Amino acid sequence: MDKNFYITTPIYYPSAKPHMGHAYSSIIADFFARFKRIDGFNVIFLTGTDEHGLKIQRAAEEKKIDTLEFCDKISKTFRDLSETLNITNTDFIRTTENRHKLSVQNLWKELKKNDHIYLSKYSGWYSVSDEAFYNEDEIEEVDGKKQSISSKSQVEWMDEESYFFRLSKWEKPLLDYYKKNPDFICPSSRKNEVISFVKSGLKDLSVSRKSFSWGIQVPDNKDHIIYVWLDALTNYISALNYPNTDDPLFKKFWPASIHLIGKDILRFHAIYWPAFLLAAKIPLPKKIYGHGWILLGEQKMSKSKGNILDPIEIINEYGLDPLRYYLIKEVSFGNDGNISKDKLEDCINSDLANNFGNLCQRVTAFAVKNCNSKIPVEIDFQKDDLEILDKFKSNLDKIRIKIDNQDINFYTDFIINRLFETNKYFNDQEPWKKKDNLIRLNTIVYTTLEIIRKISYMLYPIIPQSSLKALKIFDIKENKIEFSTIGNHNYLKGNSNINNIDILFKKIEK
Ligand code: ME8
Ligand code: MG
Repeated sequence: MDKNFYITTPIYYPSAKPHMGHAYSSIIADFFARFKRIDGFNVIFLTGTDEHGLKIQRAAEEKKIDTLEFCDKISKTFRDLSETLNITNTDFIRTTENRHKLSVQNLWKELKKNDHIYLSKYSGWYSVSDEAFYNEDEIEEVDGKKQSISSKSQVEWMDEESYFFRLSKWEKPLLDYYKKNPDFICPSSRKNEVISFVKSGLKDLSVSRKSFSWGIQVPDNKDHIIYVWLDALTNYISALNYPNTDDPLFKKFWPASIHLIGKDILRFHAIYWPAFLLAAKIPLPKKIYGHGWILLGEQKMSKSKGNILDPIEIINEYGLDPLRYYLIKEVSFGNDGNISKDKLEDCINSDLANNFGNLCQRVTAFAVKNCNSKIPVEIDFQKDDLEILDKFKSNLDKIRIKIDNQDINFYTDFIINRLFETNKYFNDQEPWKKKDNLIRLNTIVYTTLEIIRKISYMLYPIIPQSSLKALKIFDIKENKIEFSTIGNHNYLKGNSNINNIDILFKKIEK
């Protein structure tokens, strides 16, 4: 079986510092990367910054700073945010790096050589904010200004010599590909959008600009720079050392398992990128997943609208794991999600402090006192114990399948249900009344500790720091976490130590 997993986030524009929307994509990608790692996969996890184009050039001009210096500075805030969010990306790519420029110029040459690119003239609408071309029917006029209907960003008229990619030629091959690979575009609601756009007819795509210079030069024409999306999308293979397709990294990890993106950039990933790859005879990524938007009020949180929530401020106030938990659990994955401090606080109090934290605390304290701080040796599982333990074993493969279908809600619901059940089990079994039946007392403690171990493993991709803190009860270190062992009822070794732990989550006074 293919035990390699390659996941990517979008490479973000360093036009302004990151906000909660960027944090969201990175945290979700980290969730999948960590899950796959504890399930025995080799994982490559790529993120980075998309630094060329007029949008960035203008942002630097506004600040009166040299463009590269401007990129250096803001790209670093994205890199720092990854660290703050405890993201386990294995690479961070910047499109201003040489490895990437070489890769893009090579892809260009490949396309040009086989007549997929030709020189002509572009006249039409362009949004610098989206770095996107729009058809006349995608434009509306508001207060005398033309804007994109979908993104509401302003468009300007563009009229210049430009190279074109023969996108029109790929209309049918793309539709065939979507049909043959029903999981290529997810979730399925978004797939339909893409299909109807392609069916409405694809025009050749302008892939170079002449009126400014901040970008990668077209190899055989110094007057042109390569369109920023052709440049940016290529990052996914630059990081695997394309054009060297014999490179072990490329051979092992391409095609990518999943490009995780927001729905705002689905067209680029589900139409342009596969068309470029088909033309260059490079295999297509296995899946494009366009998640929903984090909304503040009713609007998409965005740099250009300025309605942003700073993840750093939230982390300073509540801590990182509560934020990660909240974003992963509360936003129904695939859909848009409103976020608020109020709901974040509810999450901390009910799920994290009351449900998980409390279970760890009271069971450990009980075991320290009544089992001499040792994992019980003499145990005898009864029906009640096995029933609750078996739920992990019998759902092992189902959980894996759900993860491969990006069904995060199933995963979080599973954890929450087990937590409720286990708290109830510990109450109902009343081990404190079993002091004259030590085998029964031991078995209840053992069962509950086993479940705490299993749940902590499952929580590791969501709240890694807190999971590791809980696993200190058993001295289990990060490199020992193996998802497959949640099916094992007798993992904890009798007579090994049980350690008291600090409070995992502080309740918020409301
Ligand atoms: O589009 N809710 O960069 P970008 C959820 N450079 N996710 C959000 C979000 C929100 N409110 N706002 C942003 C670009 N995102 C290009 C990408 S890829 C080859 C080039 C996340 O800085 C989401 O993943 O505008 C979205 O697709 C991405 O940030 C856009 O980031
Ligand atoms: Mg954007």
